[in-house]
Amino acid sequence: MTDKSMQTKGDGHKQEKYFSDHDYDGIKELNNPSPYWVLLLFLGTIGFSLFYAVHYFGYPDNGRDQYSEYNKQMAMAGKKSDQNPATQAGAFVMDQAQMDAGAKLFTEKGCIACHGAKGEGNAIGPNMTDKFWINGCKPVDLIKVVTEGVPAKGMTPFKSMMTEAQIKSVVAYILGALVGSNPPNAKAQQGVECK
Ligand code: HEC
Repeated sequence: MTDKSMQTKGDGHKQEKYFSDHDYDGIKELNNPSPYWVLLLFLGTIGFSLFYAVHYFGYPDNGRDQYSEYNKQMAMAGKKSDQNPATQAGAFVMDQAQMDAGAKLFTEKGCIACHGAKGEGNAIGPNMTDKFWINGCKPVDLIKVVTEGVPAKGMTPFKSMMTEAQIKSVVAYILGALVGSNPPNAKAQQGVECK
């Protein structure tokens, strides 16, 4: 501490009260506490750090630590992709969402060229709105036909053009919406009747 800075504290007598009791061989120590607002700020940060630590890491299983947040977000992302039937290759489901997705694919993937816009069949492909099937009538049979095709008879294999989920959607559309729809100009039945 220089003389000059001590002088700013006032005259010699007043300075006394800034000295602490420490006295090392005549060397005294100034007691110069920081202003209250700095102290309050400092204590505030300690208080906040306690609150922060407990809130975000500490309180057991309060769901706000990074692992819980990660799991939550992954679950949300999973749910989002589950809502899109065309990307979910799970069990074969014949609900409205699957059928809607399948209806779009039926047009987009060109099924209509050989099976008609309403699945009624045409000169190339068979009618898909009746109960008669050439290659079997269970969902697995239809899935197999769309996947592997029947190249000898002119049915395209779609395994390289559609995902498994898309194939399941389009089959859900055929079985759920086309069968029994009675479109005009339906092609004559082929194959065996399925009950
Ligand atoms: C190039 C013409 C063509 C296209 C494109 C086509 N199909 Fe076919 N499809 C056929 C023919 C021909 C058959 C009959 C096969 C047979 O006789 O075994 C058939 C049969 C089927 C069968 C089995 C019918 C039965 O009675 O066993 C299903 C299911 C089917 N197609 C679905 C589809 C779907 C879904 C698409 C579009 C993703 C599609 N097809 C696109 C020509 C086509």
